[in-house]
Parts: sequence; structure tokens; C-alpha cells
Amino acid sequence: AEYTSILIERKQRVAIVTLNRPRELNALNFQLVAELATALEELDRDEAIGCIVLTGAGEKAFAAGADIKEMADKTPIEMMIGGFESWERIRRIHTPTIAAVNGYALGGGCELALHCDIIMASDNARFGQPEIQLGVIPGAGGTQRLARTLGKYRTMEMVLTGSTVSAKELEGLGLVNHVVPQAELLNETLKLADKIASQAPIAARLAKEAVLAAFDTSLQDGLEIERKNFFLLFSTKDMREGMQAFIEKRKANFQGK
Ligand code: HXC
Repeated sequence: AEYTSILIERKQRVAIVTLNRPRELNALNFQLVAELATALEELDRDEAIGCIVLTGAGEKAFAAGADIKEMADKTPIEMMIGGFESWERIRRIHTPTIAAVNGYALGGGCELALHCDIIMASDNARFGQPEIQLGVIPGAGGTQRLARTLGKYRTMEMVLTGSTVSAKELEGLGLVNHVVPQAELLNETLKLADKIASQAPIAARLAKEAVLAAFDTSLQDGLEIERKNFFLLFSTKDMREGMQAFIEKRKANFQGK
């Protein structure tokens, strides 16, 4: 597909998707979010890709939120039919995803990072849900995903004040995996992505699914999902290869089968 608001680059088994409206701080208009959903689905179907990195163009922002200029005169119905299902499509991606947050991640930008499985951030990155200052609230999962990670009280402060929080602080609170100098962000993220992309791909997908189940189900149901995925992997060639390689003291050669 042809995209106007994002860039896609492939480096071996890793795909880098760059939000590319740097003059608007990568503000997420409907077109961009729809392109992103389509691109992620396309990469998700591609067996050559084992990990997807999501980042923003420029040095200032990952994404400064939904496009306020586009939203300002919208009606509820227009918001509802305008493309919000793109977020649901992004949520359903099976391939592991890493956000490389290179600056502001605000509003929908913060929520987009929260859709990813791992969050890397540059030392100048700031996260926030400033929607309250615009007379609205987060709409793409911010209240739910922040609460599930930070707990009630920090989430309330972020959502009710709209104040931003530094990557360093969020690293301490378990929302950011690692903070690195901005110049090293993409390289450090790619190292992590390479490592994930070199694992047995079906195992990686089922591992992701099992971890995400923890946010969605009772412990009992989650344990059931984990156990069934675990058993299912004993039907893969990669499981035989992984265990045989260990026994033969060599590196496993996974095929995604
Ligand atoms: C549209 C945006 C934008 C946005 C920045 N720009 N954020 N345009 N929507 N969310 C534009 C500015 O209008 C400006 O364009 C250019 O990008 C540079 O931004 P400045 O404000 O001049 O930069 P700076 O002074 O450095 O301030 C950076 C900033 C600020 C703190 C990030 O831009 C800001 O507060 N942005 C809005 C953040 C926000 O409220 N996000 C939540 C949106 S609601 P011009 O042409 O004027 O120079 C939301 C709801 C999500 O996300 C619901 C689910 C999708």
C-alpha cells in the first residue's frame, strides 16, 4: 500500500514504522491512524517480520496527540464513524511491537505508545494525557491502560491535571522499559527488537497473547490461556529445533513453523 503519513523501513526481521508529520509534531489525524493500522496489519501478516518498532519523525515528538485542528468542529457521530476502529485494529496486532518514544507522547500519542508491548524512551521524552485541558478525556485507552500499569492514583493525577510526566519517572513506575539518550534511542530499540525477532515467531506471538490476557481476564482464565498456548507450541517444528539445539549445545535455527 501507498502511505502519505507514515514511513516503513525493514531491517532484517525488524520493521520500523515512523509517524511522519513532523511539522505537526506527528499529530494523529484520522488518515495517519488508518494508514498505521493498515501498515501494521500488513507487517503482521508478513512472516519475514518478527518485531515492529514504532517511532516518530523529528527530535521533538513521538506524537503530540490526536490532530486538534481536525477534531475541533467534529460531532459525536463524526468521531464515531470517522475511523476510531483503527485503534481496535492496532490493538489486535499479534507481532511484538516496541514504541521508541523520541519526545512528546501526549494524548493519543501516549495511548499509541501504550498499545505497544514494550516502551523505550529518550531522556527528553514526556508522556501525558492533556485531553482534560481541551474539555475532553482520553479516548483510545489511556484511562484503562494507564490505570492497569500505574494504578489508580498516578493515573488520576495525569488524567485530571493533564500534566506531563518524564520518561525517567515513568521508568521508575514500570511504564517505560528503558530510558536512553535520544541519539541512541533507535539503535538501543533495534537491539531489543532484533533479540525479540530472533526468537521462535509462533512462540513470540503466543507469549504476547498470554501476557495480554492478564489485562483482560481472571487469573483462572489467564492461566488457562497460558497453558493452552504452552501445549500448542509442542506442535511446532521450532519447539523441536529449540530443544534439540540446547541438547546439542548449538544455536537454534528457528523457521516460524
Ligand atoms: C494538531 C498540533 C498538535 C495536535 C502540536 N501541533 N500538537 N496540531 N494537533 N495535537 C502543531 C502546532 O499547532 C504547531 O503548528 C506545531 O504542531 C508545533 O507545535 P507548537 O505548539 O508550536 O510546539 P511547542 O510550543 O514546542 O509545544 C509542543 C506541545 C504543544 C507541548 C506538544 O504542541 C501541545 O500542547 N500540543 C497539543 C497536545 C495535546 O493537547 N494533545 C492531546 C490532543 S487530544 P502551527 O502550524 O500552529 O505552528 C487527543 C485525544 C485522543 O489526543 C483521543 C484518541 C485518539
